[in-house]
Amino acid sequence: MHALPEVAEVAVIGAGAMGAGIAQVAAQAGHEVRLYDSRPGAAALAIEGISRQLDRLVEKGKLEGNARDASLARLHPAESLHALDGARLVIEAIVEDLTIKRELFAELERHCSPDCILASNTSSLSITALAAGLARPERVAGLHFFNPAPLMALVEVITGLATDVAVVDTLLATARRWGKYPVRTRSTPGFIVNRVARPFYAESLRLLQEGAASCASLDSVLREAGGFRMGAFELTDLIGQDVNYAVTCSVFAAFHGDPRFQPSLIQKELVDAGRLGRKSGQGFYDYREGASRPEPIELDSTAAFDCCVVEGDLGVAQPLVSRLRAADIAVIERPGTGLLRVGDAVLALSDGRLASARARQDGLRNLVLFDLALDYGKAARLAISRAADTTPAARDQAVALLRRAGLKVTPIRDLPGLPVLRTVAMLANEAAEAVLHQVASAADIDLALCAGVNYPKGPLAWADAIGVDRVLAVLEHLHHSYGEDRYRPSLLLRRALFEGGRVLVQGEPHD
Ligand code: NAI
Repeated sequence: MHALPEVAEVAVIGAGAMGAGIAQVAAQAGHEVRLYDSRPGAAALAIEGISRQLDRLVEKGKLEGNARDASLARLHPAESLHALDGARLVIEAIVEDLTIKRELFAELERHCSPDCILASNTSSLSITALAAGLARPERVAGLHFFNPAPLMALVEVITGLATDVAVVDTLLATARRWGKYPVRTRSTPGFIVNRVARPFYAESLRLLQEGAASCASLDSVLREAGGFRMGAFELTDLIGQDVNYAVTCSVFAAFHGDPRFQPSLIQKELVDAGRLGRKSGQGFYDYREGASRPEPIELDSTAAFDCCVVEGDLGVAQPLVSRLRAADIAVIERPGTGLLRVGDAVLALSDGRLASARARQDGLRNLVLFDLALDYGKAARLAISRAADTTPAARDQAVALLRRAGLKVTPIRDLPGLPVLRTVAMLANEAAEAVLHQVASAADIDLALCAGVNYPKGPLAWADAIGVDRVLAVLEHLHHSYGEDRYRPSLLLRRALFEGGRVLVQGEPHD
């Protein structure tokens, strides 16, 4: 697998946010770069912008002054497509419109050498459709950078139906040489990240719509228990509600209305109201002058207890036991089914059932369910919900225990699955579907979510850590509780139970 040599000329078309970033990456990697935009003067302006970005890197000590000068000297505005005829790789980053992009590719075929690779930075269009009708569709591929391109490590390399394997290999090697983490994916709606990340937003939106808790509470749980950098509401406010909603709608439409991708009505209402997030001053939160961010709800309790009892193995939540002991709480261990008892309360990690349903089905009085945490030894917060007949006194005992172990406790209304568990189970389910449908390998999907959207753990590795059987149970309970196809478990998860019980290896060829 050979990367494009440094001497190879690269052309970037479209000098907007993405094109400028990509041109900077290529120039810093040593290529002569020609930047073209149909708006006269836009390419030169973009190069001035890149120059300021490079200055900032020098100020921060991240770039040597002479490297800045050399990179800048390699960037050239192009006045017409004729100037691109020496390029070995053209990266298109123009307006997201299939017809306009197709016209451009047809014209590029007339100007560029026959062995020049034509790549598109499209975030949603089919590479197969883009290449259709060209004389040499085999040299067309997707090269999907994330915003801002110089900072984000992930690049999705996308193969259309006709794309030549050698073209893909060259792009993978080139992106690697440019300091990126490339992943390989087939041209399917949303590619990897924009598809597999959808449940991250969808489950929080759904929980909010069902009155589970406030935005601030849900965001804090995703951050402080789940280990995500941001919760779904603060993140969509940053991305722009209109942008995030449009991506969901486009993936939903491309999957012919599969309910797994159904857009959210409350998000649509925000878009309709013009509450687009930070950029418009209001979204799920208020960013206007003088407004303050609401605090998450946190339960307090002064209930006294002498000790707690751990019955059986708590599974992924087992580090909680060491944490309780480290807080000088007497812990008695005995055989059982993975329960934690304190006073009259019984605590258990959610399995996707309503707390009230589980209390009745399993004959557990005063049941308090707790949520998944990325690391129970370190989490700052944990969400809990309680069954309808759990007494306030028993809940207070459960809260007192968790608080003594240094956890903030956020109450969630009794709904199937708690926020982190439900989100992670649905992310893993979508990742599993993508593996099953040969979109990408399991390892590349996990890498894409970690490098592209900064998830603290790849969804498939996370499913393995929780236990595929438990993830499957959560999904089955969600599916049963809601009666909606949206929650149907992926066949890959079921199959994994018969093939070693781990899902991360499922992307590898079987024979
Ligand atoms: P932008 O609107 O900032 O820039 C697009 C540029 O293309 C403009 O300067 C425009 O004058 C130019 N242009 C339009 N039609 C042209 C044509 N026919 N020939 C030459 N230049 C033309 O857009 P942005 O955000 O940079 O997006 C560009 C592409 O990258 C789109 O396909 C988008 O889906 C994709 N993308 C965008 C991301 C983002 O976060 N903005 C992330 C990843 C991909």
